[in-house]
Amino acid sequence: MTDVFGSSHKDVHEQVVFCADEQSGLRAIIAIYNTALGPGLGGTRFYPYESEQAALADVLNLSKGMAYKNALAGLDLGGGKAVIIGDPAKDKNEALLRAYGRFVESLGGRYITACDVGTYSEDMDVVARESRFVTGRTTAHGGAGDSSILTAFGVYQGMRASAERVYGTPSLRGRRVGVEGVGKVGHRLVELLREDGAEVVICDVSQEAVERVRARRPEVDVVADAEALISSDIDVFAPCALGGALDDDTVARLRARIVCGAANNQLAHPGVEKQLEERGILYAPDYVVNSGGVIQVADEIEGFNMERARAKAAQIYDTTLKIFTIAADEGVPPAVAADRLAERRMSEVGRIRGIWLGR
Ligand SMILES: NC(=O)c1ccc[n+]([C@@H]2O[C@H](COP(=O)([O-])OP(=O)(O)OC[C@H]3O[C@@H](n4cnc5c(N)ncnc54)[C@H](O)[C@@H]3O)[C@@H](O)[C@H]2O)c1
Repeated sequence: MTDVFGSSHKDVHEQVVFCADEQSGLRAIIAIYNTALGPGLGGTRFYPYESEQAALADVLNLSKGMAYKNALAGLDLGGGKAVIIGDPAKDKNEALLRAYGRFVESLGGRYITACDVGTYSEDMDVVARESRFVTGRTTAHGGAGDSSILTAFGVYQGMRASAERVYGTPSLRGRRVGVEGVGKVGHRLVELLREDGAEVVICDVSQEAVERVRARRPEVDVVADAEALISSDIDVFAPCALGGALDDDTVARLRARIVCGAANNQLAHPGVEKQLEERGILYAPDYVVNSGGVIQVADEIEGFNMERARAKAAQIYDTTLKIFTIAADEGVPPAVAADRLAERRMSEVGRIRGIWLGR
């Protein structure tokens, strides 16, 4: 059994709740990493984990990641995440989602849920029939809808900040950007890049996804796979498919000077950030530049307003530049600088809650 409090995880989570409902088949784990800045917000991943241990390890990692992401997104939210163990295609049903909603509600707002792999806005509408602490709902229910809109916008802002750092101008005009994965986020990023005057080259394992981009933007180049993209003559590499895009091999072959994309957990293992730096490649930390989606759904807490959410996501530009400055000043890779900045905010702003408010 994973040692929650002890050695196998360096960090201690505030709260980890196991939820089961025999009749609906619900087996879920909700993890709250910390609530220093506010209630823990993070999505619900519905996935057929091989074991409870694998599910627990995932939710512990993901909830910690959300604490850092929310902190750097400037949100008054802590880090939380939930996993439902099962195959969403077979096991998802109304009773199960509502049973899950009751467990979310039972935490009294310490955890606020949203969509993640295997869950959709429509599912959040069902969960919300049992709980007030749900975001990522459909626009028909006052929700933020598809979070990939501001995720792509935020990645674009992070890329502009990276271009400013490397080339002295945020414009991507004339730069050649390679986008790996043109799904929900990637295809929107291509639009923003073309509007800015960048040349774009893409790859995707789905021919349908490639065709969708080419139908709108026939001028976009296509290469066979990620390997071809990485070795091609690009200025910016934007991983927008799965995690682990940057490993020893890809970093060694990469020709781009900037890496900035939407995928979570782009660095395959610790140490890759140093290899990137040694090769003179500027890495915009994934969880900083892909926080537009959480900014979009978090806005629902106040009653969703797209313009307000977009203005907040635009700040990803400043945050990314700030991280590059800290990295240079402190002599560390940007990934380390980002962690330090997040920890600083959690500690400095989290501390003020200790100020006694009187009666
Ligand atoms: N959607 C959001 O709001 C959001 C927010 C934050 C982070 N992210 C992350 O961004 C990434 C993309 O998310 P999405 O919502 O666009 O997902 P998606 O599933 O819509 O798109 C992913 C695309 O990548 C393609 N792909 C998969 N494997 C590939 C490979 N080996 N080479 C090339 N293409 C490949 C898929 O065919 C698909 O078109 C994911 O890592 C996700 O975790 C998404």
